[in-house]
Amino acid sequence: MTERPRILAVFGTRPEAVKLAPVIRALSLYPGLETRMAVTAQHREMLDQVLTVFALTPEYDLNLMRSGQELPELTARILRGLEPALRAERPRLVLVQGDTTTAFAAGLAAYYRRIPVAHVEAGLRTGDKYAPWPEEINRRLLTVLADWHFAPTEVAAANLRREGLPAGRIHVTGNTVVDALLTAVRPDYRFCSQALSAWLAAQGSRRLLLATLHRRENWGAPLAAVCRGLREILTEFPETCLALPMHRNPAVRAVLTRELGPPAAAPERVFLGEPLGYPDFVNLLARAYCVVTDSGGVQEEAPSLGKPLVVARATTERPEILARGGAVLAGADQAGIRRELRRLLTEPDHYARMAGAGNPYGDGQAAGRIAAVLAAELSAEP
Ligand code: UD1
Ligand code: UDP
Repeated sequence: MTERPRILAVFGTRPEAVKLAPVIRALSLYPGLETRMAVTAQHREMLDQVLTVFALTPEYDLNLMRSGQELPELTARILRGLEPALRAERPRLVLVQGDTTTAFAAGLAAYYRRIPVAHVEAGLRTGDKYAPWPEEINRRLLTVLADWHFAPTEVAAANLRREGLPAGRIHVTGNTVVDALLTAVRPDYRFCSQALSAWLAAQGSRRLLLATLHRRENWGAPLAAVCRGLREILTEFPETCLALPMHRNPAVRAVLTRELGPPAAAPERVFLGEPLGYPDFVNLLARAYCVVTDSGGVQEEAPSLGKPLVVARATTERPEILARGGAVLAGADQAGIRRELRRLLTEPDHYARMAGAGNPYGDGQAAGRIAAVLAAELSAEP
């Protein structure tokens, strides 16, 4: 029997797993293809949470995460660690997502073995090589390494065309984050986290501000400034509460707990918890009044659920929702965060305009489009 063409999906962090899960599922509908998974486990617990939810069982788990890992050693360990899987699997292509160190290093490892690369969520750019750091350069390098470029939006595709890529290699698909979201958000959802359920019940009719913060370039003073802006809002508006499930990064946690943990902020109105399971998180987002974030994925999820978005960064590679008026750039800046949240809390027309901006990031069918392109390339029938 002839071997089926094999795809090796390589990922390692929470957002890559969320966004590749729908693609892996869509590929599984092609019996003529074989899709395998290698996880670097650049994230450990936060990756495992997503693997469990989407019932993904990787064939290879490199288990690479170290506490407080630095970029050079992480990159080197991924490059070296992927070698046995690439050698054993001899995939026809390697599938990567986004702009993490795992995605970039997997692209490079594949290239060293002359294996073609397919890049999901291609073409995002800020134009500033240090913002976000190192993601802006990771994704630019991946564009050079990759053979198929799945752009989530026309804006991303235009960035790729401007960089001279042949149009036939660029496919505008929507972002697979929307595919995942639509399967997970439910009106009758019951939260798995008991701590979160109890806290939510205690908040009654307070307006829920949901925040996530983790960007490397904001560690230290900028992150503390964002927290102080949030604290000012909690003080000024007693009818608000704040949920901030903390990223596991120790550099991030130290600042968040110092600035927003007791006694710094109103403890009964702040949920400063562990990272939430994906279904808990997106269903909490569905109940939020508005969102403050520096996360990439959350910038796409919030508009998909009609939630006004305050971006705690000076620039973004996701400008589509800014252009529509559903998001504002507040900067990693105390006054900016305070100003934008105050407007959302006091100006109903402004709130309604932002909430009604619509979703430019996808229709929930992105994964199927990506799978169809790859299957055609590998001549596999559905
Ligand atoms: C990484 C990505 C970033 C992405 C983010 C998503 C890079 C350089 N950064 O950033 O692009 O937006 O993931 O969350 O690729 N940790 C744990 N448990 C976990 C996860 C992390 O303890 O499950 C701690 C570890 O101490 C680890 C640290 O967080 O060393 C940093 O993790 P790392 O993946 O290097 O960077 P992130 O800031 O998470
Ligand atoms: N997310 C989650 N639990 C949380 C916070 C976020 O499952 O407590 C999900 C969120 O729904 C989104 C993804 O994690 O799909 C975003 O990951 P993150 O912010 O870590 O990375 P980024 O998107 O910035 O690369």
